[in-house]
Amino acid sequence: MTVLTGSFDAALTDKIVDGPEGFSGVEGDAAWAAEVRRLLDLRGATLLAHNYQLPAIQDVADHVGDSLALSRIAAEAPEDTIVFAGVHFMAETAKILSPDKTVLIPDQRAGCSLADSITADELRAWKADHPGAVVVSYVNTTAAVKAETDICCTSSNAVEVVASIPADRDVLFCPDQFLGAHVRRMTGRTNLHVWAGECHVHAGINGEELAAQARSHPDAELFVHPECGCATSALYLAGEGAFPSDRVKILSTGGMLDAAKASRATQVLVATEVGMLHQLRRAAPGIDFQAVNDRASCKYMKMITPAALLRCLVEGADEVDVDRDVAAAARRSVTRMIEIGQPGGGE
Ligand code: 13P
Ligand code: SF4
Repeated sequence: MTVLTGSFDAALTDKIVDGPEGFSGVEGDAAWAAEVRRLLDLRGATLLAHNYQLPAIQDVADHVGDSLALSRIAAEAPEDTIVFAGVHFMAETAKILSPDKTVLIPDQRAGCSLADSITADELRAWKADHPGAVVVSYVNTTAAVKAETDICCTSSNAVEVVASIPADRDVLFCPDQFLGAHVRRMTGRTNLHVWAGECHVHAGINGEELAAQARSHPDAELFVHPECGCATSALYLAGEGAFPSDRVKILSTGGMLDAAKASRATQVLVATEVGMLHQLRRAAPGIDFQAVNDRASCKYMKMITPAALLRCLVEGADEVDVDRDVAAAARRSVTRMIEIGQPGGGE
């Protein structure tokens, strides 16, 4: 870790408080943004931010996007240091792709309940029960799970990744059961085995809530992330004729941005983590975007606070490291992921 020497804006850095819920005490205002940009320049670093980050973090970043777009940007970034404003598996993926770069995450405690829903040991045992099956893991997994995987995917390209596998091969898809159900629906594959993991934020956006909102906003479009517990209900509503099927879109966070730019709707109901609303409102200011569940906030994403980012840039911490052998094995599955499908959505 390289601690920067020189003068810092002490009026800001002295305010940083480290607590059990993360770093706090600093406002994401113009003075903070100017200091962040100055420190990024001093480090020769680029700042990548996921679509679920706090608005101030998204606004100060060099690139904002979905998991796939950010992985691609990280792989090609000319800078020697990548600061990843997102959760730990995302920063780890950047390190896997760029082992010689310094990858920093503003708070390494920013985990992911979905990534925690399968371990490498559990995956090895599952593989032993299905010899010869191709393993497709969502990018929301640890490096150790990626190292046991044939092809990673994100919500942007999960369908294309599975479709690229010969139809007669069994596929083990982990860890998200709702994304797995979406892929099974889209590909029609009966030999796709799905792990029963879930993201606590998206699983909590349930079908009843979605149905109630859809009925009270009959002219709106529906953007639904495939990790949502309500993705099946959305298609069911459309299938039953309760909602026009051309107004229901199952999309990654980047796909939502593309759809927003192309949409002619005046109102869109959004079923995903609430951080997404910031980029959607920027992309299409004429549309009224409403969260299906306004409590759907990821506490891990929100650990990347203005204070955490400032501390990261001053101290050069937290640095992300991945064991070389694990990284080499994981790189194969992640590289295949970024080669397949559409580019992912980002700036
Ligand atoms: P995207 O791949 O759509 O960016 O989603 C990432 C994620 O963590 C969803 O919860
Ligand atoms: Fe993980 Fe869910 Fe948070 Fe995405 S929203 S980072 S899947 S816990």
